[in-house]
Amino acid sequence: MTTIDTKNTIDSILHEERSFPPPSEFVKHASINSTQALDALYQSASNNHETFWASLARKEIDWHRDFNNTLDASNAPHYRWFYDGTLNISYNCLDRHLADRADKTAIIFEGERGDVQRLSYQELYHAVCRFANALKIHGIGCGDRVVLYMPMVPEAVIAMQACARIGAIHSVVFGGFSAAALKSRIEDAAAKAVITADGGYRGGKIIALKAACDEAMAEGCASVDTVFVLKRTGADIAMKAGRDVYWHDAIKPASDDCPPEWLNSEHPLFLLYTSGSTGAPKGIQHSSAGYLLGTIVTMKWVFDAQDSDIYWCTADVGWITGHSYVAYGPLALGMTLFMYEGAPTVPDAGRFWKLCQDHNITVFYTAPTAIRALMKAGDNFPDAYDLSSLRLLGSVGEPINPEAWLWYHRVIGKQRCPIVDTWWQTETGAHVIAPIPGVIATKPGSCTRPLPGMDVAVVDEKGNEIKQANQGGYLVIKKPWPFMLRTIWGDDKRYCETYWQRFNNKYYVAGDSARRDEDGYYWIMGRIDDVLNVSGHRLGTMEIESALVANDKVAEAAVVGRPDALTGEAIFAYVVLKGERPAGGIDKALTTELQQWVSKQIGPIAKPKEIRYADNLPKTRSGKIMRRLLRAIASGETITQDTSTLENEAILEQLQGKQ
Ligand code: WT7
Repeated sequence: MTTIDTKNTIDSILHEERSFPPPSEFVKHASINSTQALDALYQSASNNHETFWASLARKEIDWHRDFNNTLDASNAPHYRWFYDGTLNISYNCLDRHLADRADKTAIIFEGERGDVQRLSYQELYHAVCRFANALKIHGIGCGDRVVLYMPMVPEAVIAMQACARIGAIHSVVFGGFSAAALKSRIEDAAAKAVITADGGYRGGKIIALKAACDEAMAEGCASVDTVFVLKRTGADIAMKAGRDVYWHDAIKPASDDCPPEWLNSEHPLFLLYTSGSTGAPKGIQHSSAGYLLGTIVTMKWVFDAQDSDIYWCTADVGWITGHSYVAYGPLALGMTLFMYEGAPTVPDAGRFWKLCQDHNITVFYTAPTAIRALMKAGDNFPDAYDLSSLRLLGSVGEPINPEAWLWYHRVIGKQRCPIVDTWWQTETGAHVIAPIPGVIATKPGSCTRPLPGMDVAVVDEKGNEIKQANQGGYLVIKKPWPFMLRTIWGDDKRYCETYWQRFNNKYYVAGDSARRDEDGYYWIMGRIDDVLNVSGHRLGTMEIESALVANDKVAEAAVVGRPDALTGEAIFAYVVLKGERPAGGIDKALTTELQQWVSKQIGPIAKPKEIRYADNLPKTRSGKIMRRLLRAIASGETITQDTSTLENEAILEQLQGKQ
């Protein structure tokens, strides 16, 4: 791990001082709306960490068998929560609502082309049971891995819930990832089945998911026996006899009742692959009970979830946000969940706001990159719609710049809606630092304070807590929490090294740097490892470099992030070719070719925005690429680093595009 680089910080948020008290209209109806109520929560968490979580677990989860042990820390940093209890997540999301809200709408769906579909809790329950039985008919059982590669349609949630019902472990691969990325994830988990579709509508096009699946499985993926194919678009696709089966055919022989499998609290619910600073993406493994509890309590605390809400989180199910705050949290609470299949700009940049109006959305959760893009399109888009149903707005994925925050607050929330800026990670499972909106005043750019039961700190290089205000350091979590990741699938050593070793297994190391201000508010400053955040999505620089060097023309590559007004960070690549360096270090045709190449290797989100060609990369005498220097060059900063240790100092001019 490298040392903390505060240069990487978004400067403008360092000096943001405005504070916004919870809007009174919101406070009136909020479930937690007094300092006393919140203090009582914090107090109860600090009195006894374990009792706090145990009583919440008993209150919020319907158990099949109650647990005896709250926290087992005997094998740290491997923790078990609520061990020996048994439950089923799908039961908690569906069956338990049938008594009092069977006819309540569980999912409202709108496709990109405007088709609308509604499913009541009763209907969703039967759809999940039927598909769960179809999985069983095809030999999928408890503990088997199932990969999903789906568009954002209700069937994606149905498939995830069906896996949960029978104890199969799902691994959702974002539909924007390439065939190669899909293949490596299928193989890493040795998945027995894949669930996909004949396509999905996005950006006015059909995303050819099945074709990518076929390509992934053309060689390798030997573990896969069955590919379930949802007919969404009716596009012409190839079906392989004996392996591929249409969803509608698979459910034909299946009953719409399927008793839930009672699973241990620690049974893995899912794997979700995410990028790190080294190697291939890692399969973050989550538990059942602890994870479910995290989604439930944070839905209540941070989103102030209420029975009357129509709740919309715009995240795709391919990301953790789409797991915790689409597929599980809202359903566990019996809420009405809205889902949208397509792009925010189809047919124009007013689509999100039109959807909010048409479906009376009350809670809206999205990413800063989307907010910035829609802000750029102009106020006339939101102004054309009635947004008065909204009562709470959320943000996730990266620090939100005050300009976007203030626009969101004023133009979308009409200053009536609190904004919850939620800091968390694939690994944390649910929100960790976020405001309780009825009580905590917000500051644009800060995710405010740790939630009750979350023991967060900022520490220095030695692991000592930094008490001084505004001093940056490593963001760590000091006590285990129920919804934390359990391990990395198939690579437990990497789990220990990545998250625990830095401070001798004492703290969970998030990989972000942060500072805490005079009021105890946290400000996330960025990653401290070689991980980029592009449009709220995590990408490893190494991953992109490996993709580049896999191209025949490329000898060496170094990838860094550069601040970008729209995507937060943009990918900037320095490439050394096997052949001659193009004049001036720029070659548009080759850049296009390499961009397409990376798209194919990983997915369009990993495409470098700019490529500069050099004869060499700047390295120290020990052969380490000087990334910090490359970052400075990419951002057009003046170079303050000492470059005298460079093996090849002359290369600087080339990298700066001066020759
Ligand atoms: C990384 C986690 C958690 C769902 C989306 C991304 C950054 C996330 C915030 C925020 C500042 C944020 C961090 C974190 N991040 N939310 N509200 N403010 N930074 O999940 O792909 O696991 O990425 O995203 O750097 O470590 P992820």
